[in-house]
Amino acid sequence: MSSAQVADPIEIDRARLAALIEREGATYRDRHPKSRAAFEQGGAHLLGGVPMTWMRMWAGGFPLYQDRAHGAELVDLDGNRFVDFCLGDTGAMAGHSPEAAVAAVTRRYAEAGGATTMLPTEDASWVAADLVRRFGPTHWSFTLSATDANRWAIRLARQLTGRPKILVYSYCYHGSVDETFVVATPDGPRSREGNVGAPVDPRETTRVVEFNDFGALERELGAGDVAAVLMEPALTNIGIVLPDPGYLDAVRSLTTEHGCLLINDETHTFSAGPGGCTMAWRLSPDLVTIGKSIGGGIPIGAYGLSAELAERIVDDKEAELVDTGGIGGTLAGNALSIAATRATLEHVLTDAAFERMIGLADRFTAGVRNIIETRRLPWTITQLGARTEYRFCPQPPRSGGGSAAAADPELDEYLHLYTANRGVLMTPFHNMALMCPATTEAHVDTHTEGFAAATDELVG
Ligand SMILES: Cc1ncc(COP(=O)(O)O)c(C=O)c1O
Repeated sequence: MSSAQVADPIEIDRARLAALIEREGATYRDRHPKSRAAFEQGGAHLLGGVPMTWMRMWAGGFPLYQDRAHGAELVDLDGNRFVDFCLGDTGAMAGHSPEAAVAAVTRRYAEAGGATTMLPTEDASWVAADLVRRFGPTHWSFTLSATDANRWAIRLARQLTGRPKILVYSYCYHGSVDETFVVATPDGPRSREGNVGAPVDPRETTRVVEFNDFGALERELGAGDVAAVLMEPALTNIGIVLPDPGYLDAVRSLTTEHGCLLINDETHTFSAGPGGCTMAWRLSPDLVTIGKSIGGGIPIGAYGLSAELAERIVDDKEAELVDTGGIGGTLAGNALSIAATRATLEHVLTDAAFERMIGLADRFTAGVRNIIETRRLPWTITQLGARTEYRFCPQPPRSGGGSAAAADPELDEYLHLYTANRGVLMTPFHNMALMCPATTEAHVDTHTEGFAAATDELVG
């Protein structure tokens, strides 16, 4: 993990930025007539005009429509080819349609048949054993999304501890989990802005603190009502916020001392290495949750817990685990997802692949850092293994609240348009670039050149 900062930064000229956005927006519209027409004419019966409302996040007024994608590259409806650093916001960290996953899915779906039967397949034991090797917890179960892995882990934590609340970090994101939409403010916790149809005020279910704030964590856990701390070992959904030295040890000690469980959500921090931050930093959470990438693009999530917790929950006479107790789903653990996951873990997101991906992220980070420094931009770049992200603040943020304050939608729009117009896709929600096993040095350099040109125009 690493981050950088510039002394004596310049100020961004907002008038120049507005003019550049205007110009790049026009280029974007010119380059994508088919995507634009598909959006304007095809959205009549789609909520928000798109298959899933987040797909409206792309800069330019309409999303690119995907034609095809393989490895680290994607081609849109107009035939434009892109180096893809968004990678489905981590869902495609294995690269698009990796060969081994294609073969496993074809075998299971077309040849053997039976995508979803409510029966186990032998691949599941292999996958669970590999997740043990990577993340530590010894007993695993499957979901169809990281969101559900977190939901069910939270339910299990409540059942196991008999406590009502969870604790999360301000500006965290763990999927559409009701309990997590709460932020810390100087006036106390409040529901996160825009929280849709919350079942109850999240302050009833959740305690919230800023990342890296040891005192706040100690205070909140002291109330004795927290079943589990649900955390990413480094925040990744509000830029990347790295833990201060010793902070994660302190979290582990405090949670143990206060009798609450620790859940590491490794869905994004998996980028840190073959076993995410948990393996890379020798962490020892009670539960681990993960999703998105492990199925090579086929939906799956997973949660694992220690042998001791697994035994207690299975033996708990009041916990209905095999029917309508609130844990489980009809298609969860289905043969197709499991086959894709085995192939992805066994052949694609291997230890060797991570080594390469992290080397490429080092190259990406060094290139961007050099540009930030030589142009004296008031920005930073922070890397977490195969994932790296620039943020519009002169110092690396230490908390979600601090990072949220550095949001700059205009700069986001400009850089996303500029890079998209030159064949590079960045994650629309932020400025994250993720490497996959098919990413090359040439891909990285394409971004570095585009970023240099974009910033040169910006600073004049
Ligand atoms: C850390 C983390 N956990 C969980 C999720 C939820 O993933 P999904 O939307 O695939 O359920 C996300 C999504 O961005 C995430 O970033």
